[in-house]
Amino acid sequence: MAQAFTKAMARNIFYGGTLFFFLAFLALTYQTHQAWPERDNHEALNDTVALGKKVWEDHDCIGCHTLLGEGAYFAPELGNVYKRYGSVDAIKGFIMSRPKDGVPGRRSMPQFNLSDEELTAVAEFLKYVSGINTANWPPNVKG
Ligand code: HEC
Repeated sequence: MAQAFTKAMARNIFYGGTLFFFLAFLALTYQTHQAWPERDNHEALNDTVALGKKVWEDHDCIGCHTLLGEGAYFAPELGNVYKRYGSVDAIKGFIMSRPKDGVPGRRSMPQFNLSDEELTAVAEFLKYVSGINTANWPPNVKG
């Protein structure tokens, strides 16, 4: 029994393991912060995009949709909707086209009666989001 696993050995594994994984956590956090500036789409940021984010928040779009995976899983992911629709005008067209009383028989997207400025802004915001380098997430364009 000379090789018994002692309390001291268990303690050393615990402290050593904790230290190792804490250092790994710090290193990965640092690496993430270094990578952000290249992955963000900051050259596309402007006042219209900022207004679009406000429209997005004021109308609680995230209450139904996800944006890059965050949000409610009721309606389609919108982080890549610009890639699906191909233009700001097409996105505006969809949002404007929602019937006032919804699509009969199913839960659908409401009509928000946004002004043209708000529509352009929220569509530009979605265009901006689609330009963020997400390491190809979501994995397909349907999102
Ligand atoms: C009450 C839930 C709800 C809210 C809130 C909502 N949507 Fe939607 N949205 C939907 C649903 C459901 C669809 C799928 C099409 C349909 O059934 O009408 C959709 C589809 C879309 C699409 C087309 C997606 C695609 O891939 O075809 C866009 C763009 C969109 N919404 C933008 C917005 C924006 C911008 C807002 C906020 C101003 C918003 N939505 C708020 C439910 C919602």
